[in-house]
Amino acid sequence: MPKTTIQTLRDKKSRGEKMTFLTGYDYPFAILEQKAGIDVILVGDSMGMVVLGYDSTLPVTMDIMIPHVKAVRLGAPDAYLVGDMPYMSYQVSIPEAIRNGGRFMAECGCDAVKLEGGREQAATIRAMTDATIPVMAHIGLTPQAVAQLGGFKAQGRDIKTAQKIIDDALILEESGACSILMEGIPSEIAEIITRRVSVPTFGIGAGPHCDGQVLVIHDMIGMFDRYTPKFVKKYAEIGKLIIEALEEYKKDVQAGSFPAREHCYAMPEEVANELKKLYS
Ligand code: KIV
Repeated sequence: MPKTTIQTLRDKKSRGEKMTFLTGYDYPFAILEQKAGIDVILVGDSMGMVVLGYDSTLPVTMDIMIPHVKAVRLGAPDAYLVGDMPYMSYQVSIPEAIRNGGRFMAECGCDAVKLEGGREQAATIRAMTDATIPVMAHIGLTPQAVAQLGGFKAQGRDIKTAQKIIDDALILEESGACSILMEGIPSEIAEIITRRVSVPTFGIGAGPHCDGQVLVIHDMIGMFDRYTPKFVKKYAEIGKLIIEALEEYKKDVQAGSFPAREHCYAMPEEVANELKKLYS
């Protein structure tokens, strides 16, 4: 498979070819996602919730992210890889945003980084882009602002907030964003944005009109059931399969049927006999 670049994504947008985008947090899943031909893999700070067990993404840091982003790059060398800028890795100052974004690019081999926020992030996106860091903007429901939003709630359901999200998208494209991810907004807004911007758009809970669709891998394969947003379609129940396998293993061990002969290392019969004599 040829390496997916920003040009691949732009070409797909111009051909009207829908793109696929999933989160991924480790080497084995990255291998599977690349084998399945997923275009974009995001090492999302959602890892804090679906892998590390936190109830928000806020505790995730750059030090937590970096080894995971490296592992995903090793497993999926050809995918378009996006490193998610964790909470307070870009909000404090522009130099810090550039330094942290630069770590994703230089240390992990990312193709882009993603950060949350509307027009208030325009200057940061401009500066990062000028520093050769491609930035995917993330607008609409921005989970790092959960305390301000009062929960993980859909955004843009009245005319004023809908227009603000559309304007934010236009401002961020103007500021250099190389693509736009829209989360938790009515599909009408995502459709207008997708038509009006020239960069690729990706939606998670933003309806069918985006250039590509995003899901959190653990949600779509049934590996995380503490909370399932309305927009998730479950394509598998891997969690249930794993529990069945574990219960089967427990049964076998308790019954003495595992390990069987084929799982044991053999030794020459004369050595076994001598050993028996010595220790009987
Ligand atoms: O962290 C994450 O997984 C995200 C989703 C919107 C894909 O940002």
